[in-house]
Amino acid sequence: GAPVEVDVSKLEPGQLLTVEWRGKPVWILSRTPDMLSVLPSLDGKLADPKSEDPQQPDYAKNTNRSVKPELFVALGVCTHLGCSPTLRKEIAPADLGADWKGGFLCPCHGSRFDLAGRVYAGSPAPKNLEIPPYKLSGTTLLVG
Ligand code: FES
Repeated sequence: GAPVEVDVSKLEPGQLLTVEWRGKPVWILSRTPDMLSVLPSLDGKLADPKSEDPQQPDYAKNTNRSVKPELFVALGVCTHLGCSPTLRKEIAPADLGADWKGGFLCPCHGSRFDLAGRVYAGSPAPKNLEIPPYKLSGTTLLVG
């Protein structure tokens, strides 16, 4: 099918936009400098911090897992059994505990992902969130 075209120029810092691609939700999150700065500190708690899984595109094999650091693009589908995780931007909210630095929480069986979609060790989900193929041309994002 044709790629999905999204104008990302209106995204506010911290805003999450969801579009549909091949019947699946694709998240586009505009990450703030604070959101990005916490990512390297989480490596020790994650199952695959460098995204060495060969199924990931090359531009996902870094801490930010993106072409442009601030723009996070991922399939919003848990790699456990396919529920859609929820964005939780708060730092250390009461229900998630002091270690929570913002990320995506799966409502089905509690898998935890950071703001780069990297799965925490010990989650039921075996892999980081999938990064779809995409290209950026100025402020136009092409997914697919
Ligand atoms: Fe997400 Fe099971 S489907 S934790």
